[in-house]
Amino acid sequence: MAENRDHWASRIGFILAAAGSAIGLGNLWKFPYITWHNNGGAFVLVYLVCVLAIGLPIMMAEILIGRRTQKSPVPAFEELGNRGWGLVGLFGVLTGFVILGYYSVIAGWSILSFWQCINWSISGYVAPPEGAFGEFLADAPSQILLSFAFLVATAFIVWRGVSKGIEKAAKFLMPVLFAILAYLVIRVLFFPGIGQTMEFLFRPNFSELPTTGVLEALGHAFFTLSLGMGVMITYGSYMRKSESILRSAAVVVFLDTLIALLACVIMYTIIFSVPGMEDSISASAIGMLFMTLPRLFYTELSGGVLIGPLFYILVAFAALTSTISLLEVIVSFFIDKLKMKRHSATVLSTCIVALCAIFSALSLGAVGFMSEFEIFGGKPGVLSTLDHLAANWMLPLGGLFTTIFVGWFVSRKLALEQLRMVDKSGRSTFYFNLWRFFIRFIAPAAIIAVIIAVILGKDFS
Ligand code: TRP
Repeated sequence: MAENRDHWASRIGFILAAAGSAIGLGNLWKFPYITWHNNGGAFVLVYLVCVLAIGLPIMMAEILIGRRTQKSPVPAFEELGNRGWGLVGLFGVLTGFVILGYYSVIAGWSILSFWQCINWSISGYVAPPEGAFGEFLADAPSQILLSFAFLVATAFIVWRGVSKGIEKAAKFLMPVLFAILAYLVIRVLFFPGIGQTMEFLFRPNFSELPTTGVLEALGHAFFTLSLGMGVMITYGSYMRKSESILRSAAVVVFLDTLIALLACVIMYTIIFSVPGMEDSISASAIGMLFMTLPRLFYTELSGGVLIGPLFYILVAFAALTSTISLLEVIVSFFIDKLKMKRHSATVLSTCIVALCAIFSALSLGAVGFMSEFEIFGGKPGVLSTLDHLAANWMLPLGGLFTTIFVGWFVSRKLALEQLRMVDKSGRSTFYFNLWRFFIRFIAPAAIIAVIIAVILGKDFS
């Protein structure tokens, strides 16, 4: 079976696809607003520590499981552990449905913002009436149509397979994304707000960091690196034995972090460059990406007619490479465990996800009881509930089981064989021992701290 398995056609294939999964709405939408809420500097520093000390080791652990077994999460856990451990893989598949069910709706908004920007660029800017975004959210047909459009695009790529679909798409989408981002960063470097942005992001002041910020940083590290549900296991299973896990994981983590920070630089600089904007942002930081920015592009920036549409292509592309990875986890499960063909697996899983997406899409004001629905102490609405469930419970739990599995149940020898962190005399390097210490002790302890914080009532979504 392993010989017939599709693999990344090139070394860069895994890196681009995995970076594509990691870089998404988490970087462009969520990170800028939670960093804003947590007052910048100190939060950024704590986040960097979480990414390096916990994110990177867990990413290596997930890739290791996939690369070694050459299987998708459920059979991979079963092979290295036993049937019981397979449940962790199954839990990841379930998490995939939950995340895709709301992520595709938010991703759909980027299509609207893009469309709106194109219209403004062509026919001139007209200020949207007060409350227009709220009306759009409550408009059932638009929400359903846009999220479905996104899902169809995702399914189209997953349908084509690993090397011909996912890898090809990542090889096209990621360079375009980097190019647009680089252009936007260069543009904002000349804006007056750049100094204030740098100070906000990179001058830590720990007295301004809310205590819950530490746990929020850790929870977000999971989400943004696509950890805790088997994406990296699945993508790692298409990796050839000759590739270095450490190097690939390090590049993905670096790119993801860089892009989250650059997204902040772009957005904050535009905001700081407009007098008075800072205060009005604080009221609704969540709306920063879809409400405030489009307006600023056209009213405050020279060249906004170009920057506006480009920026939302960037958001849509980033979201697309993430939804692809989420769907691939589900599809690879159907293929490996239920022995389905890739095409029928893709159609079936997309239909189930579409069903979840309908509920999320209708929960933004269109249908009363779905918008007010509230369980697990989350925020009202199906969409927020799913986000709350995934970010606060499912990903940390999935991550916890993964670290315990790799740290305590997978042998040291097997891990060393996969990571190949040995010196000339064949002994494990200092960094291997450090990795193992973090996987066995530090990462589980940190995740348990997050879970306890959630139980005590902190919401990371
Ligand atoms: N990491 C992506 C983002 O930042 C979202 C994502 C894709 C994800 N696949 C995932 C999150 C798997 C958790 C698990 O937008």
